[in-house]
Amino acid sequence: MTDDQLSALIKDAIDAAGRAYAPYSNYHVGAALHTPAGVVYSGCNIENAAYPATICAERVALVKAVSEGVRKFDVIVVATPNGGSPCGLCRQMLYEFAPSLRVLMVDFNGAVHWDGPLSDLLLHGFGPDNLET
Ligand code: THU
Repeated sequence: MTDDQLSALIKDAIDAAGRAYAPYSNYHVGAALHTPAGVVYSGCNIENAAYPATICAERVALVKAVSEGVRKFDVIVVATPNGGSPCGLCRQMLYEFAPSLRVLMVDFNGAVHWDGPLSDLLLHGFGPDNLET
């Protein structure tokens, strides 16, 4: 991915955070999930008055893509106010499709707080291969 493509993806994630529905935590999150074909699926967190029904930005982006038949991903940018880290549920769901996904955590100024592989965030993760006996 070129620097320009990465800058565009960071902007996509920050823009997506602007669409967050987060009246309870007021912690707005955006995600931009990039495919090897160059398509981007964005997501924002969507909270609910029944708090556990909340869905994170990363999983919104992922389910949008997978429900459209797309299963290959190479980069995700997660934008939060403070460069926060993807939760465990999101790590697990992303690992299913892209264990070597490149993950960038950025803040709303576009500063990169972390840049590395998903497999570093979910060490020895459980994936489809583990179901083969
Ligand atoms: N959140 C995400 O959208 N992604 C994460 O990986 C961490 C947490 C959201 C969920 C909730 O709406 C808010 O951030 C506070 O936890």
